[in-house]
Amino acid sequence: MLITVITLFPSAFPGILAYSIPGKQLGKLWDLKTINIRDYSDNKWQRVDDTPYGGGAGMVIKPNIIHDALTSALNNYPGKPPAITYMTPRGQLFNNVVARKLAKNDGLIILCGRYEGIDQRVIDYWKIHHNMEEISIGDYVLFGGEVASMVVIESVLRFVPNMMHNHTSPENESFEVRDINGTQVDLLEYPQYTKPAIWHDYSVPSVLLSGNHLEIAKWQIEQSTQITKTVRPDLWNSYNCKKRYEQ
Ligand code: ADE
Repeated sequence: MLITVITLFPSAFPGILAYSIPGKQLGKLWDLKTINIRDYSDNKWQRVDDTPYGGGAGMVIKPNIIHDALTSALNNYPGKPPAITYMTPRGQLFNNVVARKLAKNDGLIILCGRYEGIDQRVIDYWKIHHNMEEISIGDYVLFGGEVASMVVIESVLRFVPNMMHNHTSPENESFEVRDINGTQVDLLEYPQYTKPAIWHDYSVPSVLLSGNHLEIAKWQIEQSTQITKTVRPDLWNSYNCKKRYEQ
């Protein structure tokens, strides 16, 4: 998978993506390219933004500059068109379902905004002509899309075939827990423990030391249920709705 990030701060990449599993597989199972928006500036001062029509604080990145940067990124994908995303707090909320869908592509272009935003016309154009999708990683505003793009990249990479080879499967973590029948359920992950069995007067739950796999699986799903009910009642409700629908 070739991922291209369009940003004003290309030196921020690969950043954390150079570590751990993504780092080991960089250049093997996936590649990362950055495009500096400033390289597409239309003036000798290398400015990329201008004052907003209608007044107000902040600057807006000009549409022609973003268009040229996106076009140049797209030219690196001669085969099947890549998925194109724009990181913005106004986008659809990112989750594992979106990550899994993006991981089905051989290519991904991620546009990172900064300042007050990007001229709406170039966003509309790329949505209409190239299926660009706007993605938010949560209901808060960051200074720009770079950190958000790294969040998206990390979670997409976990679904790239062979990425998790010999490591914990993405199938058994929060939101992807399996019940005792092996069916995937949308609950938060149960707690994990390792040695020593007693630490600071805290013992590992005795069922985990029992060797009884059925009892362990039951305990784990019960823990997932309790944690999800308490911490994420929204997830718990949609889990129940889905279960009722499937019956
Ligand atoms: N850029 C600024 N805030 C963001 C957010 N919450 N998600 C994605 N991109 C952003």
